[in-house]
This record gives sequence, structure tokens and C-alpha cells, in this order.
Amino acid sequence: MSVIKYWGKRDEKLILAMNESISVTFDPTHLCTTTTVAVSPVFDRDRMWLNGKEMSLSGRRYQNCLREIRARANDVEDETKGIKIAKNDWEKLHVHISSNNNFPTAAGLASSASGFACLVFALAKLMNVQEDNGKLSAIARQGSGSACRSLHGGFVKWVMGKEEDGSDSIAVQLVDEKYWDDLVIIIAVVSSQQKETSSSSGMLQTVETSTLMEYRAKEVVPKRVIEMEEAIKNRDFSTFARLTCAENNQFHAICLDTSPPIFYMNDTSHRIISCVEKWNRSVGTPQAAYTCDAGPNVVLMARDREAATLLLRRLLFHFPPNSTDIDSYVVGDKLILKD
Ligand code: PMV
Repeated sequence: MSVIKYWGKRDEKLILAMNESISVTFDPTHLCTTTTVAVSPVFDRDRMWLNGKEMSLSGRRYQNCLREIRARANDVEDETKGIKIAKNDWEKLHVHISSNNNFPTAAGLASSASGFACLVFALAKLMNVQEDNGKLSAIARQGSGSACRSLHGGFVKWVMGKEEDGSDSIAVQLVDEKYWDDLVIIIAVVSSQQKETSSSSGMLQTVETSTLMEYRAKEVVPKRVIEMEEAIKNRDFSTFARLTCAENNQFHAICLDTSPPIFYMNDTSHRIISCVEKWNRSVGTPQAAYTCDAGPNVVLMARDREAATLLLRRLLFHFPPNSTDIDSYVVGDKLILKD
């Protein structure tokens, strides 16, 4: 989930962003994509199933990832299983891919990020690709921009890069998943419905019509990225929370500034945000940060476990367990409230 948002491409084909972005990768024991790839000489074409349903692989994004991984494939030999595939054979062999998310797909919970990151990683393992996660991130980026960040754990920055071919537009890990272990992430699943406007068409529409977009990308985000990196490295929760919430609000403001306007958050998201804002103001120092991507689901980040418990009590007070406003809460580490 991003804390500095990527929104707007400078190159549609290569998927190069207009600004740098930073995200935190969720603990895969709670929310994850599981992808299995099989290869066989009897497969007559590449095929893929997403959450059990066959889908087309003909789109440019999938083709780019398959092509780039095949181009880097190496010999594979496993004597125990009697498998021997030469480097050049990968061009002729077809794969069957099965990908499953244990959380709502295309509902603004970064399913395309985890999906493409997992796909590229699984294909690279199968084909014995030797590139590190940084190099693989430039391939995952061509599937979905946000996917480049999801190849790393912890807090990750997507570097803009200068090269025209996008080879240096990669993700780098800022700190690993253990670095800031006080932070507790709570996800309020407001809706499991697929979003009406996909990120790709939303971004394109915003770049073409929003008068605020360029100002954000050039004047606001570069400064925020520097401040956010500092806050993460210093585990400075107050600055982190201030920037995360401001980013969320500006991102949804530019979506609203788009013609026609795009509404990703809904009334429930607004009520949750307002509840967190009131709480933070009443305490005086931020206890929790909030952010939504391209959908109404709210990701909350609490200062520590004590703040997380208090936040959950607050949420349960405003949205009692039988409320239809929130389906479930998934909490980082071990607290899981509803099943
Ligand atoms: O990677 P895409 O095309 O799904 O775009 C994702 C954009 C946001 O999630 C809204 C922001 C971000 O930085 O991930």
C-alpha cells in the first residue's frame, strides 16, 4: 500500500511514472497472492487462471512480462526429477499460470501490484533467471507500475530513473520488514466490489484533464519523498502520519479534479478518516495514519500496539460488528477481529 502515491505516467508503454512513490509491503502471512507456474512440452499455448477463472494473456502487460523473463532464462537441470531444459528451449515451451489472491481483487488493495510481482518472481524462479529483485522490479513494472515496489518487503521506493528505455526505473528497499515493527497495519475492508474506474484509465484521465496534476508531480511529491524517507529511517511516526494522510487527501483531490471526476473513496471511507482525524487531534500527537488507494478500502497504520487496540475499539464503536459498512478487519501481526 502506497504512502506516497504513484498516479500518472510519463510513458504509457514502458510504464514510467511522473513522480517517485513509496509503499509498504503487507506481511504475506495475512494478505498475499499465491502464484504457481507449470511448464510442459504438451502445453500448446500460454494460459492463466486468476482466482480459478481463466483470463486472457494477450494484453501488452502480460506479454511484456513473459517476453522479458523468457529473454533472461537459463538452463534448468534437476536430476532427481529427470528434468533438463536448455536455455534456448524456453522460447518454444508454454506455461500454465494459476494465481490466487486471499483478499478482494481489483478493489484498491493493490492486487495488481502483488499479482504482477508474484507472477514475475514465479516465472523467474521457473526459468532460472539470475537477476536480483531490483532488476526483476523493472520487469514487474511493465505489468503494473506499483508491482515493481512489491518485489521487496518493508518500505520501498520506486525510483523515477533517467534512461529512456526505463532500465533504471526500478524499486529499491528503504528499510526491511523488521525495521519498524512497532507499526501496526489495520485494513478496513469497506467494499470487496471491483472499482468502477481502473487505475490505468483513471491515471490517463487525470493526466489529460486535471489542472492540479502537474503541480503535484513537480512541486509537491519530490519534497514529500525526501521527507518521507527521513521519517521512515528515523521511525518518526508523527511526520510519517502527517505525510501519509496529506498524500491520501491530495491524491483523492486530484481524482476529483479529473473530468469526469473520479470518486474512489465512499461515505464509509470518509467517516473512518474523520474518526481518525478527530482522535489524532484530541490526543495532540498522531496515533494513526490513514490511506486509500484506487478504492474505498482504508488502510490504517497505528503508532504501536496500544494505539492499534484503541483504534480498533473506536472503529468498533462507530462500526459495530453487525454493521454492513465494514466487512472485516485484518490486523498486522496476530490480531484478527472478525473472521
Ligand atoms: O500499478 P497500478 O496501475 O495498479 O496503479 C496503482 C496506483 C495507486 O495504487 C493508486 C497508487 C500507488 O502508488 O500504488
